Amino acid sequence: MKRDKFYVTTPIYYVNDRPHIGHAYTTVLADVLARYHRLRGIPTFFLTGTDEHGQKVQQAAEKIGLTPQQHADATVVSYRELWQKLAITHDDFIRTTETRHTVVVQKILQSLYDRGDIYRAEYDGFYCLPCERFFMERDLVEGICPECKRPVERIRETNYFFRMGNYQDWLIRYIQEHPGFIQPDYRCNETLGFLRKKLNDLCISRPKTRLRWGIELPFDRDYVTYVWFDALVNYISAIGYCADDARFRKWWPASYHLIGKDILTTHTVYWPIMLQASGVPLPEAIFAHGWWLVGDAKMSKSADNVVNPMEFSDRYGVDAFRYFLMAEMVLGQDASFTEEAFVRRYNTDLANDLGNLLSRTMKMLGDSFDGVIPHPGLAVAEEEQLRSAVLKAACTMEESVDNMRIDLGIGAVSGAIREANRYLEKRQPWTLAKQTDKTPLGTVLYYAAETLRIVSGLLYPVMPAKMRALRCALGLSDDDPSLEDLKRWSTVMIGKKISTMQYLFPRIDVRSIKKETPSVTPAAATTAPDGVVWVDRADFQKVQLCTARVQTAEKVVGADKLLRLEIEMGGESRQIVAGIAQYYQPAEVVGKLIVVVANMKPTRIRGIESRGMLLAASGGGQLRLVTVDGEVPTGSSVQ
Ligand code: MSP
Repeated sequence: MKRDKFYVTTPIYYVNDRPHIGHAYTTVLADVLARYHRLRGIPTFFLTGTDEHGQKVQQAAEKIGLTPQQHADATVVSYRELWQKLAITHDDFIRTTETRHTVVVQKILQSLYDRGDIYRAEYDGFYCLPCERFFMERDLVEGICPECKRPVERIRETNYFFRMGNYQDWLIRYIQEHPGFIQPDYRCNETLGFLRKKLNDLCISRPKTRLRWGIELPFDRDYVTYVWFDALVNYISAIGYCADDARFRKWWPASYHLIGKDILTTHTVYWPIMLQASGVPLPEAIFAHGWWLVGDAKMSKSADNVVNPMEFSDRYGVDAFRYFLMAEMVLGQDASFTEEAFVRRYNTDLANDLGNLLSRTMKMLGDSFDGVIPHPGLAVAEEEQLRSAVLKAACTMEESVDNMRIDLGIGAVSGAIREANRYLEKRQPWTLAKQTDKTPLGTVLYYAAETLRIVSGLLYPVMPAKMRALRCALGLSDDDPSLEDLKRWSTVMIGKKISTMQYLFPRIDVRSIKKETPSVTPAAATTAPDGVVWVDRADFQKVQLCTARVQTAEKVVGADKLLRLEIEMGGESRQIVAGIAQYYQPAEVVGKLIVVVANMKPTRIRGIESRGMLLAASGGGQLRLVTVDGEVPTGSSVQ
């Protein structure tokens, strides 16, 4: 979909606590979307910020003896630092305590009050502090909050109300007539389900006797504004509503408000009605994503399982963290975060698949062409297959961004990377390198390099620093790529001089995983039967099993059981000595895709160094090598 501008927002985050993975997720998602739109040349505005008023912030501040403003000033720093760390490219960061915001909230309140859309009345009902929301008795579920399922308190006081109920029929019609306004569609159904019950008017004030920390009502100084009424306005106050008309018209309506599923009602019911009552057009779309669970448990302080994005990216790298967040969560649904899942995906997609393609291509270009990408010779079916897989991935990525399925787009790009590794396996450039005519080798390496140009560009919005480094090593310019150039197979790589680079994504040793995650705690009975020594998952994962291709094999002189093999594993050559000579002739094993223990401590057997151990099945007087059922690149992990 070609847009003329793209305006994306994240929720503004409460400053009562430090940022966690949930906050990081929405913000990285917004960043990735913003970066893709910029690559398409679409003017883009990306807004994030902090929600600084309300009872939660006041209470958190009181607890540590600070004023709410001091507390907000201190906590906002951790958000700003995290966004800098995570390479977030927001265009603005709004704080709801800034004057540019508070004046707009007051203007909107005053005009709704003047029009009679806000009225004063006695309130007798229930209040949920964590949600900062009022409920009628009929809304409660077995006496507790229908949203967060926590206890509510009874409250009787005079307050100001927004005539939200008057807009119920209009909103239902609007949602029905605008498919795509609430996404994914099951969240749209959820909102329509909520609107089947009579919509109460919204209490938009809090008496100062109970809460002082908020924006004062312009028509009654004894009250402050309900925090949600205040917070939602950030999406328009930041872009100049009531202050800079041209700027406001340039960006509004928002293309996407990205939110978590728990704040659906405030965004799909309160906010559209507030806008409609104020005569402002509605945003184009509100997209609610799912939650990150830790293992299969809800993340919470009390369960001590809160994932700290800062710590995690320090440990494993910012780009790998961004990649995992985007690739692992099916947009809209809940996803499970565990360190094991992270390491598995990292090792498979980045260290093995992308890492192998890169290191093989660079090594062979260096060895045979002095690092200069050659002209390709004639392309045959294999080249055509690779080209079409890579270009298809580029189209899928573009569609996935439009359809809010970044996870699918990333999946398509990883598929193209695997296809390129398969292509190298088929074309065997290491064998072509031995020929005097270097044209076939040049063709293969040009195709691999062009694939790297395109996939690095497609992944650039997800992993900006690593992909920029990769593109510079490929001899491409430091500038952002353009999406149009990534959708075309080109000749730009010909003649480029590549520079060597360190491993882009060094393999993570699974032993470095600090804690066991909740999903892998042992089940009931834990005693092994006699004669059985149980290993747990962590023990097993210490062993790195990888696929490797046998390049050469020969008998070890003076040892009738041993063969000396040279194997190729993800671009790396190794020598191993294996006790298989009584079962295999050297020629029989050459070309086989075998499984080896890659992190076996190097040893010397009959004076020959052996780095790795191959797997074989023995029984019935026979010994057969363990091989893989189908084609996967060498260096793939076996789990
Ligand atoms: N201040 C309000 C939003 C106002 S927007 C006008 C708020 N703030 S919050 O800090 O509590 O939450 C911000 C976002 O974090 C919400 O979208 C929420 O869904 C998201 N997440 C909180 N925990 C989460 C996970 N475990 N996983 C994913 N996102 C989750 O609500």
